[in-house]
Amino acid sequence: MSENPKDAAVTVPAQSTGTVVTKADPAPGETLLKVTGLQKHFPIKKGLLQRQVGAVRAVDGLDFEVRAGETLGVVGESGCGKSTMGRLITRLLEPTAGKVEFEGKDITHLGVSGMRPLRRDVQMIFQDPYSSLNPRHTIGTIIGAPFKLQGVEPEGGIKKEVQRLLSVVGLNPEHYNRYPHEFSGGQRQRIGIARALALNPKLVVADEPVSALDVSIQAQVVNLLDDLQQELGLTYVIIAHDLSVVRHVSDRIAVMYLGKIVELADRDLLYKTPMHPYTKALMSAVPIPDPARKAAKSERILLKGDVPSPIAPPSGCRFHTRCWKATEICRTTEPPLLELRPGQQVACHHPENFADQAPQDTVLLTDAKEAAELVSEEALAQSAATSAAVAAEVGATEEPAKAATEAEPAEASGAAEAPATSEASATSEASATAEASGTSADEEPPAKEK
Ligand SMILES: Nc1ncnc2c1ncn2[C@@H]1O[C@H](COP(=O)(O)OP(=O)(O)O)[C@@H](O)[C@H]1O
Ligand code: SF4
Ligand SMILES: [Mg+2]
Repeated sequence: MSENPKDAAVTVPAQSTGTVVTKADPAPGETLLKVTGLQKHFPIKKGLLQRQVGAVRAVDGLDFEVRAGETLGVVGESGCGKSTMGRLITRLLEPTAGKVEFEGKDITHLGVSGMRPLRRDVQMIFQDPYSSLNPRHTIGTIIGAPFKLQGVEPEGGIKKEVQRLLSVVGLNPEHYNRYPHEFSGGQRQRIGIARALALNPKLVVADEPVSALDVSIQAQVVNLLDDLQQELGLTYVIIAHDLSVVRHVSDRIAVMYLGKIVELADRDLLYKTPMHPYTKALMSAVPIPDPARKAAKSERILLKGDVPSPIAPPSGCRFHTRCWKATEICRTTEPPLLELRPGQQVACHHPENFADQAPQDTVLLTDAKEAAELVSEEALAQSAATSAAVAAEVGATEEPAKAATEAEPAEASGAAEAPATSEASATSEASATAEASGTSADEEPPAKEK
């Protein structure tokens, strides 16, 4: 990435355009980025000697790939390590362990000069369009900076190219000389997008690109990203704290919990038959804009309590302190991320919509049984508004939305025992439709993370 003021140190003054490495772009569907065992532990230091007394295990062992031309959505509650992951794969942070490969090349420990060509190919869009633009620079300077930093002279000059980029993102090219404070939040995010696109990147990592914006503006910006992807053949990793933003634009979705991926699946599979209880929880915080399903609201449940601390994550399955299906094995043994169905990887001993992976272990943990309650109306309403607005803007009438509408409270093997889900499980046509089942969601209301 280029030019977040904070990261400016990473970039290096211009040299010649001769540094441009030409290489064949990966064909759509081929692996563009691959991450293996990725970790980032932030040390906690105390005392005069600044001795390390522990570590925040922000990212604690991720394995995934990003395919050329796709959008990978990454969701999870605040603090689960999404931004850290984004900064690791764009190499703005040095990993504690693990490997990052871009186009087959190991970039895990590349230094500044080794990273220079890559800084063109991999760009990041930040969450906060207020702090990510230097208030003392004009829009022209901000969007033109990547050219200067990389020593690239676009045809027709930087000014002309910046004006072209402004119109690409839907802004007036005449506003070249204005300052960030003269723009609204949505417009500033467009400026951030223009800056990210300046060098024609291959991979764009967008960290909650619309969380700070009003619902209607969120939809426009998501729509812009979607259009740009089609026009420019971009590959995206889009990070969000709930599913309402990514559901309409992702090809695959990774669900994170406390520094780990708990489920990674094709979008349609994830919506039709989520397998991890936490995914179901997140999912029911994304209500379906269909009046016929209003009644289903009462079956949704909220995960109680805060996310545990990443300094001392729970033993076994990290979600066991909040999972209504947790049993003894969940407390003692960490479930590996396994491909239980083609296109769907899950880390759970008792997955939904699938044969129980630890059927011998049936006694629910008491704490877990009490971990559910009704989800708040405001949380649902807010998420519904976002989802509906994004769907309208992106023109999404696609399967998942439909599937979700159809899927009435089904199944919920273990969930049947959770107090709030009992009525939900009465219906049911079994595993295949789960989705709305009942279990649900916590997660802070979407607006919380500004
Ligand atoms: N520079 C840092 N130093 C120490 N802890 C950090 C740092 N950056 C993030 N963390 C911690 O790592 C965890 C994950 O943070 P983050 O990646 O920002 O999560 P998310 O983006 O999902 O909200 C949090 O507990 C956060 O406090
Ligand atoms: S059932 Fe067990 S393994 Fe699965 S998410 Fe719940 S606590 Fe984790
Ligand atoms: Mg974040």
